[in-house]
Amino acid sequence: MLIKTINSMLIGWIVLCVPLAADAENLTLSADPSVPEGLLDYIMPRFTLKTRIRFERVDSGGDLRFGADPSESTSAVFDVINGPSIFLITSPESEGQPDVVAFREWLNSEPGRAALSDFQINDESVVIPAAVEVAVAAPVTIIGDVEIGRTLSLSHCSRCHKVDRADKYSGLDNSPSFHAMRSFDDWFVRFSRFYAVSPHKALIIVEGSGISKNPKLISMEPIRLTLEEVNDIVAFVHSLEPLDLGRPIQANP
Ligand code: HEC
Repeated sequence: MLIKTINSMLIGWIVLCVPLAADAENLTLSADPSVPEGLLDYIMPRFTLKTRIRFERVDSGGDLRFGADPSESTSAVFDVINGPSIFLITSPESEGQPDVVAFREWLNSEPGRAALSDFQINDESVVIPAAVEVAVAAPVTIIGDVEIGRTLSLSHCSRCHKVDRADKYSGLDNSPSFHAMRSFDDWFVRFSRFYAVSPHKALIIVEGSGISKNPKLISMEPIRLTLEEVNDIVAFVHSLEPLDLGRPIQANP
């Protein structure tokens, strides 16, 4: 128990130190009274630590809401022992957003399920993660323009990534090709948030993302994009044929 407490303090502390992406536009998250008290305090720092995504916690009526009414959602996230099944209910505007897709994926993943089962009250487990849904692709919303996305990708990303498979010599070895990444289950989340991870953090400025940067600290002329253009790139990548990665991973085939 003590070790658990120290553990959660440590995680809490690390989370505070992680720079927060897109603070300005966080979605809100609430839990209905049927959700065991303390559960969200236990799992959310673990999710944020892993993904750097953070939802603003509100008492009720969040964009994302854990609730027990099966008429509002189809698949349960976990069952309360001796209690109801709990669903993640999303507002129509938030469904399909990258952060929400990432949250659903995490809840379904090994670490997410482990976080749910590890949560205890008086040394006893309180919830059981729902059976994993096999190969149900999370619904994604593609709203960008494929052709604009292609042009943007060729002009800004092909310096490092192979964007066009026909172009044999483009791309650097340490940068995965777009087709290879398109085959990842979580390609949508990766392409919606690439500007928040290294090495892009140090060279790409996305207006309206809530991540502010000092252009003077960027050693080369920064790549400037808008969120709309990020959506265009996502639409372009969506149109690519995923590379069959059946063989051992090739970073830049
Ligand atoms: C200066 C070189 C460079 C440029 C320019 C660049 N990238 Fe990358 N990118 C990389 C490298 C290197 C990696 C691999 C990072 C790693 O493996 O940790 C990467 C990884 C990625 C990933 C995977 C991120 C993840 O979560 O794993 C995506 C998606 C991506 N890049 C998209 C883009 C897009 C879109 C552009 C153009 C707007 C772009 N990149 C421009 C070098 C670059």
